[in-house]
Amino acid sequence: MPTVTLKPSGKTIDVEEGVTILQAILASGEKFLNKCEGKATCGSCHVYVPEGRKTLSKIQRLENEKLDTIVGVATPSRLACQARVGVENITVEILSFV
Ligand code: FES
Repeated sequence: MPTVTLKPSGKTIDVEEGVTILQAILASGEKFLNKCEGKATCGSCHVYVPEGRKTLSKIQRLENEKLDTIVGVATPSRLACQARVGVENITVEILSFV
């Protein structure tokens, strides 16, 4: 069972493979912006995944198009509502605060 570590809180939770990062964050009890509720249209769930991002689901067209519109996008960027956790542990850096 992979582990998701959240920064900056340091909170760590175990999740099932295949859940989205958004589901993992909300399950942890962290408050987190997700204005379009996972439809990849708002960009408010932009996070960095500095560790373990290669184990995540591949970026699909919808996510890629939205990421192209967000200021501050970098190599570790993902939309939390679209990226699914793989078999390995990951670290997620939350960039926005509610
Ligand atoms: S919640 Fe809107 S893009 Fe992810």
